[in-house]
Amino acid sequence: MAYSLPKLPYDYSALEPHIDATTMQIHHSKHHQTYVTNVNNAVQKFPELNGLGMEDLNSAVGTSKIPAEIATAVRNSGGGHYNHSFFWKVMGAPGGNNGPSAELKSAIDSSFGSLDELKAKFNAAAAARFGSGWAWLTSQDGKLAISSTPNQDNPQQALAETKGVPLLGLDVWEHAYYLKARLLLSHEPPQVSQSCETSQPFCRDVSQLMIMSL
Ligand SMILES: [Fe+2]
Repeated sequence: MAYSLPKLPYDYSALEPHIDATTMQIHHSKHHQTYVTNVNNAVQKFPELNGLGMEDLNSAVGTSKIPAEIATAVRNSGGGHYNHSFFWKVMGAPGGNNGPSAELKSAIDSSFGSLDELKAKFNAAAAARFGSGWAWLTSQDGKLAISSTPNQDNPQQALAETKGVPLLGLDVWEHAYYLKARLLLSHEPPQVSQSCETSQPFCRDVSQLMIMSL
């Protein structure tokens, strides 16, 4: 069965003013759709991959289960589909929740010291990612960890340095914040090489949206 673009669980304008509606529309309907189209094109030639869920397909990235001919396409576009499907779900409008559950709060305190420390380390991981990639909060064997991955890699993939089940994921590709960053930078459009570092206030805003939705 072919992979398909999931519906957003909110309107394109729901995350204003942190993420503008146009950025959300382009990000979801164009960028994410492209990952879906490309991963479908890659796997359709290999019946043994037909029917694999996104988690299983990503777990196979970096192993011999993915034919060499499509390894790069599955890594990038299968990763892109998995990452974005997750990203839409972990964001929410500010004020829409009461913070982490007691169990999660306890795990955060024991792994990082406090929720504020988690925020600081998560933001630092996002800002330190050179070029395009993602920052992650993951759980593995009962331990929480913060990491980042390049491009569309993710902690689910066998090749990830820090493996785990994602609890938060922050997209630090320019396409996630480009239009907003342009406004923040006083009419100076960001250059292709610029990353989240140059629009750090915005990255803080977005990760705050996600942390509030824990
Ligand atoms: Fe993205």
